[in-house]
Amino acid sequence: MSAQTKRPIGVFDSGYGGLTVLKEIVKQLPKYDYIYLGDNARAPYGSRSFQTVYEYTLECVQQLFSMGCELVILACNTASAKALRNIQQKDLPRIAPDKRVLGVIRPTSEVVGKYSKTGHVGVLGTVGTIVSNSYPIEIEKLYPSIKVAQEACPMWVPLIENNEIETIGADFFIQKNLNSLLSKDKSIDTIILGCTHYPLLINKIKKYLPENITLLSQGEIIAESLVDYLKRHPEIQEKCSKGSVIKFLTTDSPENFDKAATIFYGKTVRSEYLG
Ligand code: DGL
Repeated sequence: MSAQTKRPIGVFDSGYGGLTVLKEIVKQLPKYDYIYLGDNARAPYGSRSFQTVYEYTLECVQQLFSMGCELVILACNTASAKALRNIQQKDLPRIAPDKRVLGVIRPTSEVVGKYSKTGHVGVLGTVGTIVSNSYPIEIEKLYPSIKVAQEACPMWVPLIENNEIETIGADFFIQKNLNSLLSKDKSIDTIILGCTHYPLLINKIKKYLPENITLLSQGEIIAESLVDYLKRHPEIQEKCSKGSVIKFLTTDSPENFDKAATIFYGKTVRSEYLG
């Protein structure tokens, strides 16, 4: 297949977190081509305004479109919460009516009903994701009887990105946010890790949670939902090229990206700079 006809699936995140999603997508759909784009130069998005996250995300989606992507996954909760709806409803009809952009909040909300027995669910995420109320709104549409409690964890992404996972500082903030979430609703039996960085903290999170609580991390959920989406949308599926090539792009230093990305992706990564 020539470069012109390559139609990779685009996977976007503010930085590294989306690699935890890409890893699972590639496991389930290894034949497709992918372009991963991390906007590391402008990360983190978690504490930025609606307008800023929307503008940055739209810019990156357009970059991925210009590189041939027909389908882009926003593998970032903050971008899904703050930009997806606008992009789908306002921008796509104007700039690329045949292309598709999907997020991570809807597919994650769709599965909570399968896991929660008590009907009480907790959500952990960045300030942006939590303040947007995207999870309570989506879950309410699908499961009106489920109660949702939320907790913003503004220190978790910086702890991960600064390689401070194995420190007492990390334990302190994890315990603090989990205690705060559980104090909001004692009946929570299912917690959504509503940030694509958080799977890296899963062992520490488990340490501070009662065993009966199920933790939902998004990689597999999003991968399964994409498999289903491509089955239901053969018109998109047919356009996506299948050469098993994965290209990694970053808006900051590729050397730094490659060092950190291995932890998120579980394999060596060789990225290129996207100026
Ligand atoms: N990966 C982003 C998310 O899922 C968080 C990182 C950031 O704040 O940029 O929300």
